[in-house]
Amino acid sequence: MEARTAGRLRKFVAPEFVFGVGASRLAAQYAVNLGARRPMLVTDQGLVDVGAASRMEGELRDAGLECVVFSQLTPNPKDHEVIEGARRFREERCDSLVGLGGGSVLDCAKGIGVVQANGGSILDYEGVDTIAKPLPPLVGIPTTSGSSADVSQFAIITDTTRKVKIALVSKMLVPDVSLIDPELTVTLGPELTADTGLDALTHAMEAYASNASSPVTDLFALEAMRLVAGHLAQAVRSPTDIEARTQMSLASLNAGLAFSNAILGAVHGMAHSLGGSLDLPHGECNAILLGPVVRYNFPSAPQRYREAARALGCAVDGASDDNVLQALLDTITELRVSVGVTKTLSALGVTRADIPRLAELAMKDPCLLTNPRAPTQREIEAIYEAAL
Ligand SMILES: [Fe+2]
Repeated sequence: MEARTAGRLRKFVAPEFVFGVGASRLAAQYAVNLGARRPMLVTDQGLVDVGAASRMEGELRDAGLECVVFSQLTPNPKDHEVIEGARRFREERCDSLVGLGGGSVLDCAKGIGVVQANGGSILDYEGVDTIAKPLPPLVGIPTTSGSSADVSQFAIITDTTRKVKIALVSKMLVPDVSLIDPELTVTLGPELTADTGLDALTHAMEAYASNASSPVTDLFALEAMRLVAGHLAQAVRSPTDIEARTQMSLASLNAGLAFSNAILGAVHGMAHSLGGSLDLPHGECNAILLGPVVRYNFPSAPQRYREAARALGCAVDGASDDNVLQALLDTITELRVSVGVTKTLSALGVTRADIPRLAELAMKDPCLLTNPRAPTQREIEAIYEAAL
């Protein structure tokens, strides 16, 4: 399992991106260059409340663009919200998308683009490479440091009838440009900063351990781990520390480039199941499941986890595998404690009775295909139990 051949065929997809303080102020210019005349600004109520949405709307209008705002969406974006967004897009004769927000907003914007270009329901496009026609021009502007939806080929949408999260994976879902502006993340509260930062850590660790990793994704994954270990606690402690925010934006970018191409693993498969069934916060679910999944996966990829531990600052030279595993688990726990993400699944309201259904759904998640160890449903149940 662990022997990896550098020469195996591997594709790497990334959008154009602009990184740095002030990058978001290029949105109007990029939209114009992409041919936009009437963009739909997809955002959420939180960004409307802090004034970020109206600032962006003003900048788009100042550039001569007729902007339509759509903000009727919730965390873990739902199928009916995407359908409503696509209906508004058509009704208002929009021609392009500007997504300003966290992963939920950007995934919803992608979903609206998929339905607009391809018709039908968003649920028709579950799976890998099912989207035939390209989306309208899409500018992604992340306001969190974690989801990396602004650079990834993924969109995750909740199927509210089946109560599952579906994954769409396609090159078509990569935005035309991502404007990554650390300044936009300073209004993010400590809790969301911690959750999204631990999501980025999980992306990096799962991409690094993934069966579909490559020497190129490894570079980004290891760097993302170093950056999260070095800067997340400070970003949580001092939300306006622009240097810490910049390093976390960089961490998210690196993790996103890694996982968009190497895909993920059992943590995400299991977190998607929790998010779809019980509408729980994605980053927090990942943070809770990461340790138990690392413990389960470790025997299938000890060398990979040794390098991950090194990137997180553990002293691993000459240590036995058992000691490396323990150091890695301790480091994950310390990081969680340092940013206040210490709940268990029970504290989030998950019960033992929920586990069989959660495990059944997780087994069907495409993220499980690249996990370094192929679990049985009973093993997935045991991991959930360990996280209760
Ligand atoms: Fe994630």
